[in-house]
Amino acid sequence: MALESKILELKNLPAIFPLLGLLLTLYYVWGVLDFIWFHYLRPKSWTRLLHGTRPYALITGATDGIGRSAAKELYAKGFNLILHGRSGEKMRRTVEEVKAVNPTGGLDVKYFITDVGRLDIDFGAIAGQFEGLNITLFVNNVGASFPTNKMIDRSDEDFITNILNINTRFPFFITRAFLPYLRRNSQSGPVEVVFIGSIAGDVTVPFVSPYAGSKALTKRVSRILHADERVLSKSNLSFVYANVGVVQTGSLRVGTSLAQPHSDDYARHLVESFGSGRRVVIPHPVHHVLYAIVTGMPEALCDYIVSAEARSLFREIEEDKKKG
Ligand SMILES: NC(=O)c1ccc[n+]([C@@H]2O[C@H](COP(=O)([O-])OP(=O)(O)OC[C@H]3O[C@@H](n4cnc5c(N)ncnc54)[C@H](OP(=O)(O)O)[C@@H]3O)[C@@H](O)[C@H]2O)c1
Repeated sequence: MALESKILELKNLPAIFPLLGLLLTLYYVWGVLDFIWFHYLRPKSWTRLLHGTRPYALITGATDGIGRSAAKELYAKGFNLILHGRSGEKMRRTVEEVKAVNPTGGLDVKYFITDVGRLDIDFGAIAGQFEGLNITLFVNNVGASFPTNKMIDRSDEDFITNILNINTRFPFFITRAFLPYLRRNSQSGPVEVVFIGSIAGDVTVPFVSPYAGSKALTKRVSRILHADERVLSKSNLSFVYANVGVVQTGSLRVGTSLAQPHSDDYARHLVESFGSGRRVVIPHPVHHVLYAIVTGMPEALCDYIVSAEARSLFREIEEDKKKG
């Protein structure tokens, strides 16, 4: 009897496999449909953030790379801007460049200058300067990666501390300082805080543990802040983590390709992702595909492939530095 029931169990077992196969297929089909919807079909969502009197977008690290390109893109689309940088001279050039993309729009551009690696920043004073403005989009973009080929015990402490301060301490405290104003502004329409993250926070890029760790922390912080606002306070303020792959920028002077867009090209996708209502976005479609492939692999294979790719990227950066 016992043997018979065992045989029956075994006979029934395979019946579950087609069902599992079907569920898995549906999961992947859903992923592909969602990808097409998000990147190519859905209506514009950044327009949701253009509400109230004189809506502003604040962008940190806006004097180069993704930040500067996003500033131009948002200004062209009708946002007033508050830009942040660390060099007054570079900021003046950036403001001129930004204004040139929409000279007749009658839009305002303000800025503030702070070295975000410093520990004596008065966050309250910075936020206080812009208290009365209708900021509806807040982009925590400033970030430092400093690709290196050194193990952490061969990198000096100041170097590592600076990365952690720029990538985690500053975004955290500047967001905290602006929070009451952003929450107030969200009473008249949606307000979004975007943390510019990195795929390095999800996969193993060699030698960049302080950078990758800081991005992973930001991803978690943005999720909890989102839950605090949306679930507990029921405010109209959301927090988004934008997962970025390789982009040609001021500090990362790699060649451009489909997978490594120039920051101006990248910023178009980034801005399209604003206001989408999603908590985590991968704004560039090619980065999205690469992300799905590498994170869908067994971890050891993913680490091996990403490490090999990153090493060749680091070599490219070193050669570029040597050329000056
Ligand atoms: N590029 C990529 O491939 C890539 C990939 C994944 C994620 N990301 C993320 O994207 C964001 C932007 O990166 P990016 O490549 O566009 O950078 P970028 O070209 O180097 O521009 C960085 C911006 O931040 C400013 N900045 C840097 N350190 C600062 C400091 N200590 N104090 C004040 N301002 C400072 C820079 O000012 P200056 O103009 O004075 O230098 C510049 O405005 C970062 O969060 C980065 O982690 C980039």
